[in-house]
Amino acid sequence: MRERLLAAEKVKSIEWLDGRLNLLDQRKLPVEEIWCSHDSAASVAAAIRDMVVRGAPAIGISAAYGLVLAVRARIADGGDWRQALEEDFKVLADSRPTAVNLFWALNQMRERLDRLKPGEDPYAALEAQAISIHDSDREANLAMAQFGVDLIRRHQGNPQNLLTHCNTGALATGGFGTALGVIRAAHLEGLVERVYVDETRPWLQGSRLTAWELLGDGVPAMVNADSAAAHLMKSRGISWVIVGADRITANGDVANKIGTYQLAVLAMHHGVRFMVVAASSTIDMALESGEEIQIEERAGSELLEVDGRRFAADVEAFNPVFDVTPADLIDAIVTEKGVVERPSAAKMAELMSRKRLH
Ligand code: MRU
Repeated sequence: MRERLLAAEKVKSIEWLDGRLNLLDQRKLPVEEIWCSHDSAASVAAAIRDMVVRGAPAIGISAAYGLVLAVRARIADGGDWRQALEEDFKVLADSRPTAVNLFWALNQMRERLDRLKPGEDPYAALEAQAISIHDSDREANLAMAQFGVDLIRRHQGNPQNLLTHCNTGALATGGFGTALGVIRAAHLEGLVERVYVDETRPWLQGSRLTAWELLGDGVPAMVNADSAAAHLMKSRGISWVIVGADRITANGDVANKIGTYQLAVLAMHHGVRFMVVAASSTIDMALESGEEIQIEERAGSELLEVDGRRFAADVEAFNPVFDVTPADLIDAIVTEKGVVERPSAAKMAELMSRKRLH
């Protein structure tokens, strides 16, 4: 399947070229395809904060390249570049709080710095580390697609209706996608009747990004209002809800885009299976449960305005952009290390003790 998936790769949103980080501006899609070029950690941090690049793995990869840009600038400035680099670590870490991939990637970069040998070029070492983070995310996507398809096929071998939330495809990752990677692979295997795509208020990652990716792949897709999910499950024979994750804790709780938790509750009620797809870089074994995850809250204007024009009453808005799905509502967590069914702390620990496949 690996070769078929690689042949089906089309979209990418992150490009490291000639010492600059180019990001496809996801705020403009699908109307315009505009690339922004970044040459400093501050500019990469702003791109993450302002949603030019979004999706947990894509944020982590971008932050790693941000550090590469930072080390070059700090060395050129002279003085104690290691000390000065701490500011860049902080600026990047402060860009968004919930997706652990950001902190995981920065940690990988710090560990690489700590392993520098005397006389080794820090820029070359960090550049190689960032490229390796990017490449291994791409590989993880391919492995997860295979595991996810196997899981779908094990339960039912004929074409099925799937429901997904937010964007978890090539735009959100370094490769084929997490949840959308499984869905795209399932389509290639003839296992998809139709994909229902939650529009995903307020940023509309579903209707703007996921639908665009699925159309590009020729996957039958329909967008629905987030609030249509219960009706969909009751009336359209959905067999799986398949979503990504921004942080998974040691007990298997999953933080993902706001609205994921209600989908899991609805899925349980309607007997629909619930699959989470995320690389092990999204698993945070330092946190015992989802209670400890910091949930990002963004400006109320994201709910009250369209294109900068207010349409709502003169009221305040509560705008948490992630929620936590408890492990006991999840049928399977699919990672590149393997699949955990009915997640528990013991099963998550066993998964994380397995060696990485690449
Ligand atoms: O706010 P966003 O667009 O960064 O949120 C993205 C999500 O919640 C995705 O579902 C999640 O990061 C999984 S991405 C492969």
